[in-house]
Amino acid sequence: SISVFTTVASYREWRRKAFEEKKSVGYVATMGALHEGHLSLVRRSLAANDLTVLSIFVNPAQFAPHEDLATYPRTLPHDLELLDAMSLAVPSASPAGSVVRTPSAVFAPTVSEMYPAGISQDTSEQKGTFVEVKGFAHQMEGKSRPTFFRGVATVVTKLFNVIEPTRTYFGQKDIQQALLLRRLTQDLLLAHPHYENLHIVPTARDSETSLALSSRNAYLSVHERAHVAPALHAALQAAKQVWGQHGSKEECIRKAHAVVEATAQNCMGLPEKVEVRVDYIEMNDAETFDVLSDDVTKSVWERPVILSGAVWVGRTRLIDNIILGDA
Ligand code: PAJ
Repeated sequence: SISVFTTVASYREWRRKAFEEKKSVGYVATMGALHEGHLSLVRRSLAANDLTVLSIFVNPAQFAPHEDLATYPRTLPHDLELLDAMSLAVPSASPAGSVVRTPSAVFAPTVSEMYPAGISQDTSEQKGTFVEVKGFAHQMEGKSRPTFFRGVATVVTKLFNVIEPTRTYFGQKDIQQALLLRRLTQDLLLAHPHYENLHIVPTARDSETSLALSSRNAYLSVHERAHVAPALHAALQAAKQVWGQHGSKEECIRKAHAVVEATAQNCMGLPEKVEVRVDYIEMNDAETFDVLSDDVTKSVWERPVILSGAVWVGRTRLIDNIILGDA
C-alpha cells in the first residue's frame, strides 16, 4: 500500500532513492478531502511518471482569519483508501506490454513541520519568508481573498522544495492559482518542476449537474448541491453563449447574474431557505489577468479570456471558470 510520510526528512530519504534510480516523480498538491477532481490529476500523473506523489496539507497561510480553516474537511484515512484503490495500466516495453502503476507516496506533514517557526493567519503578525507573485494576485479570487495567493505561493514553493517533482499537475478549477504558480516556476527558475512541466488539467464535474467537484461541496445540503450550486456553472455557460453571439462583456456578465438571480428566486418559496449571492463574475485576459472593459466583444478581443465567478450558497463559497477563445 501507499507510503505515508509526515516529516520532510523521511520524505527526502524516499526521494533520494528515486533520484538514484532515475525515476520520474509526478506530483499533485492537495488539501485532502479527495474527490474525483483530485483523482483526475493523479491519473494524469500516473500516466506520465514512474512514481506519483500527493501532498495533503491544509495550509493555514492561505486562509484569512475569518475563513473556514477550522471546519475545512479533513478525511485522511478515507483519502488513503481512495488512493490505495487506484491503479492505471500504462503501455510499456515489458513482455506484458503494459505495467500497472499505483500512487506511490503521500506527504502529509503537520503545520509545525511545514512552518517550524509558526504561522499566523493574520498577515500583519507574520514573520519570515513569503512568496508573492506580483501583478497576478489581486484580480478575480485575489480581489475577494487578498492574502490567499501569497499563502498559496508560499506553501507551494516550500512543497516544491520538499517534493522535488519532475512534473506537477494542477486543476483548471482553480485557474488563477495554476497560472500564477506556472509563472512562479518561471520567475524563480525552479528546477523541480520546470515551467513546462506544470500541467493544467480540465475541471472534473458532476455528470448530472455540471457542478465543479470541490472539497467544499461537502458543506452543501442535498438540496443546495442538486438545485442551487449548479447555478454558477449554468451562469458561466449562459454568459459564454452571449459572448459567442458577439454580446459585450457587460451583457455577458449581466446574463450570468440573471441566471443566478433566477435560481435564487426559485428557492424563495421552498421549505429550505437558501441564500444565494454572487461574490463576483468577471472576464479577464487569460495572460495578463486584466479585466476586460464593459464594451469589449469577441470580435475585438481575440485573446483567450477567463470567465470566472464565485457565489455564496448559504455559507459555502463556490468558484468556477470557463476559458473562452482557447483553441
Ligand atoms: P485543493 O483545493 O485540495 O486542490 C488541489 C488540486 O486539485 C488543485 O490543483 C485544484 O485545482 C485541483 N482540483 C480541485 N477540484 C478540481 C476539479 N473539480 N477538477 C480538476 N481539478 C480540481 O488548490 C489547493 O488544494 C491548494 O490551494 C494547494 C494548491 C494544495 C496549496 O495549498
